[in-house]
Amino acid sequence: MRELLITRPDDWHVHLRDGAILADTCADMARYFGRMVVMPNLDPPVTTVSAAAAYRQRIVAAMENLPRQVEPLMTLYLTERTSSAEIERAADSGLVHAVKLYPAGATTHSAAGVREIRAVYPVLETMQKLGLPLLIHGEVTSSDIDIFDREKVFIDRHLEPLVAAFPELKVVLEHISTAEAAAFISAQAPHVGATITAHHLLYNRNHLLAGGIRPHYYCLPVLKRDTHQQAVIQAATSGDPRFFLGTDSAPHATADKQSACGCAGCYTAHAAIELYAEAFERAHALDRLEAFAAFHGADFYGLPRNRGQLTLRRDSWTVPERLALGDSELTPLCSGEQLAWNVT
Ligand code: NCD
Ligand code: ZN
Repeated sequence: MRELLITRPDDWHVHLRDGAILADTCADMARYFGRMVVMPNLDPPVTTVSAAAAYRQRIVAAMENLPRQVEPLMTLYLTERTSSAEIERAADSGLVHAVKLYPAGATTHSAAGVREIRAVYPVLETMQKLGLPLLIHGEVTSSDIDIFDREKVFIDRHLEPLVAAFPELKVVLEHISTAEAAAFISAQAPHVGATITAHHLLYNRNHLLAGGIRPHYYCLPVLKRDTHQQAVIQAATSGDPRFFLGTDSAPHATADKQSACGCAGCYTAHAAIELYAEAFERAHALDRLEAFAAFHGADFYGLPRNRGQLTLRRDSWTVPERLALGDSELTPLCSGEQLAWNVT
């Protein structure tokens, strides 16, 4: 196949950051996506509807001069102090589409996250009643749990009881990285889904650690062994509508990643659909890319599918070594490498 025409996709999980950086992250997103679910882990986090509305305006302003715009779907950052009244305001706002649960300390800017998940159960009750989805960074944070097991242990300790306690709550387990996560989601009701990143489809922990440590492959949840990668590929290409696209593209300055304590996050917004196309082609499943990227997420969120289209050509190009990130620069995933597909 030399050309592939798909319905315009959406990104159901992205980090745009703020300030001068927005111009760069939004320009990349606008090459591909109709809508984007914007993560709230700013510093300070986006915990109120009014903060989400102000953030949305800054995003929209950053896209003003672009040839096309992406619709930002905002999220609230859940804390143990989030009130049911704020959740009601969110559901009424028309601009907040989900609430994000970060276990405290799990990842970048998660210090304000949730320490005791049962403390937010009253708020989850309200979300269940109002149909507002809960997005979960599914990793435990206890230092006694091996980092490669943190997703699996989260599912056992927290997700299973949560899904049982709120049988009608819409839940998205974000950026799944293990066979256990894929199997768990497959066994749930249709309103429990998962996003999958391009990097968890393309790589495993050998890419991160064998023959030298490669900080630009370091993200959370950390890449797992190849059997988990295969299970995640199988889920993404299965056609199961509970699995959909979420890049988790997360910009960090090159110097912050290439450091004695490098931070977590892969930047993939510069080549988002090309990277997924690469992964689906390797799995001989290019015919399933459109549903994964453009149908499943919209259907899950109860939003209309996009009307426009996107053309991919088999026309190789070289990913730039560095990209601008406000007044700094980042190293994009696959920097300096050739990609086979090109979105025109
Ligand atoms: C994300 C970030 O940098 O904001 N990092 C990451 O490794 N994925 C946060 C997150 O989604 O965990
Ligand atoms: Zn993320």
